[in-house]
Amino acid sequence: MLVLGIESSCDDLSMAVMGSGELLSCVTASQVAAHLPFGGVVPEIASRKHLEALEPTLKFALEKAGVALDDLEGIAVTYAPGLVGSLLVGLNFAKGLAYRQKIPFCGVHHIEGHLWSAFLEAPAKFPILSLVVSGGHTHLYRMESLGDYRLLGHTVDDAAGEAFDKVAKMMGLPYPGGPAIDERASSGDAKRFEFSLPRVKSNPLHTSFSGMKTAALEHWQQASRALGKDEAEFTQLQTDLAASFQHHAVKNLKRMVERALKTEEIFGRGDEQLKCLSVVGGVACNRELRQRLGELADKYHLEFLRPSPRFCTDNGAMIALVGSEYLRRGQSSPLNLNAQARKKLGES
Ligand code: KG4
Ligand code: ZN
Repeated sequence: MLVLGIESSCDDLSMAVMGSGELLSCVTASQVAAHLPFGGVVPEIASRKHLEALEPTLKFALEKAGVALDDLEGIAVTYAPGLVGSLLVGLNFAKGLAYRQKIPFCGVHHIEGHLWSAFLEAPAKFPILSLVVSGGHTHLYRMESLGDYRLLGHTVDDAAGEAFDKVAKMMGLPYPGGPAIDERASSGDAKRFEFSLPRVKSNPLHTSFSGMKTAALEHWQQASRALGKDEAEFTQLQTDLAASFQHHAVKNLKRMVERALKTEEIFGRGDEQLKCLSVVGGVACNRELRQRLGELADKYHLEFLRPSPRFCTDNGAMIALVGSEYLRRGQSSPLNLNAQARKKLGES
């Protein structure tokens, strides 16, 4: 089945074509340059840029896949959660296209897309423990099969990506902050600044990032007050704080995952036993996080799935994959499906 996937929930428009489980193309129109001067995503700019990019991105995705519009047999699109203006642009385009082409369409939850991105480059195997770490989510799931996901824990405040972005902005690093911190961290001293790990009393599998973000701010203010005018010292401070923050943020996430792995009922037995550990979402690009979770997977004899960086950040391929799975089971969405900014995965 030839399916077009469209993702426009935030600042990037991405379209992909998938045929019989094989990815034929994935094209992303990045908006980083448009939002860079503002230090973050400006929703009005995002939706306007999406509108401009729709036609050329579709043309490019079809061309790259070597297929024509009339060859498409289904359309999948992110309908929730995200910036409502951005979602509406992609969703209405998908509905219009499906109606005109007389083919089924499938609305996909953005987080379900990220969860399935683990299977873009490796065969799907269940059950799997999956950590979703993005700009808006830090959620740990046990995935049993398509549509059967058990939420084990989540952040009670900031998402991991949000914390990376805010800490980077505070230090004057460019947007998006995650890659900027990752890059600086490799040459910094991770022991220079201490961070205590959060304790969330209500559930040991929950976590938090707001305390670490505040601690980073305090370290930054204190250390920069003591600085002279030396530029090299300033850069050193940025790299050391980036390394220290990243090290502890990764430790925080690793602890959350290991607590789940140590829970017998979550790890399971026999056929029910976990087969893989995956990390998905934009923060899954982080090299230290990939390294540490890879070690954890080895320790618990699990296959470790981490998508290539282009499939960790928002992309149309993951939406095309989930859409294909539902559509080939005959499950499509009604044309009156609406965009939802805040819908939780699994919520009806
Ligand atoms: O999944 P994604 O593309 O969009 C959302 O659904 O939010 O994730 C974007 C987030 C941003 O917060 C960005 O700073 C973060 O992923 N990110 C990283 C890295 N690359 C992207 N965070 C840490 N290290 C990275 N290398
Ligand atoms: Zn995302």
